[in-house]
Amino acid sequence: MKKKPTVAIVYGGKSAEYEVSLQTAFSVINAIDKEKYNVLPVHITNNGEWLEGSTVTGKLTDVKQLMLEDGKEKGEKISAGGWLTPAVAAEENENDKPDIVFPLLHGPNGEDGTVQGLLEILGIAYVGSGVAGSAAGMDKIMMKDIFKAHGLPQADYMRIDRHEWERDRSGYIRSAAETIGFPCFVKPANNGSSIGINKSHDENEFVGHVETAFQYDQKVIVEAAIVGREVEIGVIGNEDLEFSVPGEIKPNKEFYDYEAKYKDGDTTLIIPADITDEQLKTIRSIAGTAFKILNLSGLARVDFFIREADGQVLINEVNTMPGFTPFSMFPLLWKHTGLEYPDLIDRLIQLGIERRQARESIRYRLE
Ligand SMILES: Nc1ncnc2c1ncn2[C@@H]1O[C@H](COP(=O)(O)OP(=O)(O)O)[C@@H](O)[C@H]1O
Ligand SMILES: [Mg+2]
Repeated sequence: MKKKPTVAIVYGGKSAEYEVSLQTAFSVINAIDKEKYNVLPVHITNNGEWLEGSTVTGKLTDVKQLMLEDGKEKGEKISAGGWLTPAVAAEENENDKPDIVFPLLHGPNGEDGTVQGLLEILGIAYVGSGVAGSAAGMDKIMMKDIFKAHGLPQADYMRIDRHEWERDRSGYIRSAAETIGFPCFVKPANNGSSIGINKSHDENEFVGHVETAFQYDQKVIVEAAIVGREVEIGVIGNEDLEFSVPGEIKPNKEFYDYEAKYKDGDTTLIIPADITDEQLKTIRSIAGTAFKILNLSGLARVDFFIREADGQVLINEVNTMPGFTPFSMFPLLWKHTGLEYPDLIDRLIQLGIERRQARESIRYRLE
């Protein structure tokens, strides 16, 4: 009989979304079908250490168990020599290797292609997008440049590099005022969870916000502020894509900032979003195109604005590892589409395995 596949759930990490990631791992580990899979918790600590726990067989009762610090659950450090060893040199570790990794990591060092690159080198299947798709999905400037090249409708934007800003601040202030206008959004190119993002209403605020954004990245994006609704859709698949029902987010404040996402708790989610058939068709079509041109796989949540003035659909961004607790938008969208949380997890694992198999048949050299 074929052995039960081992799924390593990797969570935590060095990003600002460390706590969120632990909450997500707690939900996923409890929901995953343990008759079908061995479930191995792997905690990346705040210091970047990888700790592997023992196989989880029952329900976790406290998210703290995921720190793998107490009693028999105490995690063992894994590093070179363990299964974190490149495939070519690791035959003796082959038995310890998980069959697939579910990287429940958000933001830089997890959702941006870095962990995905490690897993490619290790020769291990994983859930979600590969190196290029994850990197392009995390970098708002690369993402929007690709959208632009394919004619996808989006807000006007402008790029600022740190060394150029230092050389010619007044030039950038002028061109932001002339080409983008106020209010505008100022964002670090690489991050998530609205970290380092601000809405600037005038030139003074703009300067402060650009400085803030440069604390998080070397590149900053300035975008025209869209007045309208925020609508999101879930996509799963590798080549053949499936779309969830759309959902609307109504933050009870000026925009959907870090507090609104994780703290305030008074953001309203409306599922399904009340939009026209025409708008839904456009959203699906743009989401499918974005998924393909960014080279995504497995899953993505694609976020849109519907402009108040004319009802036009504009793409905002893709999230290659969207919030994934049972109360997050992405799993809720699928629940309303008929795919319950444990089944969604199962589908994503299967898609990750299929993607790896498809890639194994690719030749790297001439015969
Ligand atoms: N161009 C824009 N016009 C209007 N609102 C925006 C714009 N860009 C961002 N926002 C607001 O800021 C939030 C976070 O921005 P987003 O680009 O989605 O960053 P993140 O990757 O951190 O989620 C959005 O959900 C929305 O509420
Ligand atoms: Mg967003």
